[in-house]
Amino acid sequence: PTEEMENRVRQIKEKFGSRLFIPGHHYQKDEVIQFADAAGDSLQLAQISAENTECEYIVFCGVHFMAETADILTTDKQKVILPDMRAGCSMADMADIDQTERSWQVFQETFGDTVIPLTYVNSTAAIKAFVGKNGGATVTSSNAKEMLEWAFTQKERILFLPDQHLGRNTAFDLGVPLEQMAVWNPHTDSFEFEGKIDDIRVILWKGHCSVHENFTVANVEQIRLDEPDMNILVHPECSREVVALSDFAGSTKYIIDMIESASIGSKWAIGTEMNLVKRLIDNHPDKHIVSLNPYMCPCLTMNRINLPHLLWTLEELDSNHVINQITVDRTITRLATLALERMLQKS
Ligand code: 13P
Ligand code: SF4
Repeated sequence: PTEEMENRVRQIKEKFGSRLFIPGHHYQKDEVIQFADAAGDSLQLAQISAENTECEYIVFCGVHFMAETADILTTDKQKVILPDMRAGCSMADMADIDQTERSWQVFQETFGDTVIPLTYVNSTAAIKAFVGKNGGATVTSSNAKEMLEWAFTQKERILFLPDQHLGRNTAFDLGVPLEQMAVWNPHTDSFEFEGKIDDIRVILWKGHCSVHENFTVANVEQIRLDEPDMNILVHPECSREVVALSDFAGSTKYIIDMIESASIGSKWAIGTEMNLVKRLIDNHPDKHIVSLNPYMCPCLTMNRINLPHLLWTLEELDSNHVINQITVDRTITRLATLALERMLQKS
């Protein structure tokens, strides 16, 4: 029964005290997030992991790339555990390291030494290492603008991995015209672009978030028709068209801050992951909040972390078994740290 599982999690947490730390992403289920020692977006969780040198075990309630980042940023003695190894991220899997190395060769031949790589933290450790090795940095949705601005002080062109939408939306906000952004298709090794190759300033990797792409122009039009006084607030992993038609766009933290500071009685249609939207609805009964897509959009891999999996990993720890440990190779760690630190120093 749920209550028994919850009590057992509490007991084990109490027994381990400060030796155990549980970070939780805002997209996690309530049954899990209630036990998080810190809840945050991906930037906050990266920062918290970098600062926490005390705890022995980090049971990461989020997805695989987040646990990898925690392992990269923590000491060798600290062990990072992911309660379910199937909790991956389809966007991170869209940039494979071999494809990326091969594509980089093409960019070097086409543009010479004028390109700097940036990767959204939603990428594998190997991609972060590739970016670190080539002078680039990681970005999150909270600092993408600052990081692109910095990248343009380094080189004429940016390669943005793996989310084309965050890359396009951020570059657009910085004044880069859409005609100077080209999508690179790593499956065909070619640009999806009609202009002159020399005009390209931002190379967008052809990746996307399978959750945020479910918020559509049709959803926006329907809300505008049904409830014209509703504010539309979306995450920048949504398409350019959806962001352009919305009233506000920003990271997970931005969305939470907007709703927390919104006036009583205000109306909001939110385009982001279902668990967060549900929590905002529950925590703000004085505001009218709905999902921009009425069918709600869950991240199925985030949702793989549930109370039974959390308890299972904790029970094993209590019996001195470390299961589901995430360990990033040393060379990859060294290079990925370069990319992460270039970001953390600026955040
Ligand atoms: P942020 O936490 O950076 O807003 O990212 C959203 C996301 O999709 C996490 O996987
Ligand atoms: Fe990946 Fe999208 Fe899920 Fe975030 S919400 S973990 S980007 S699939």
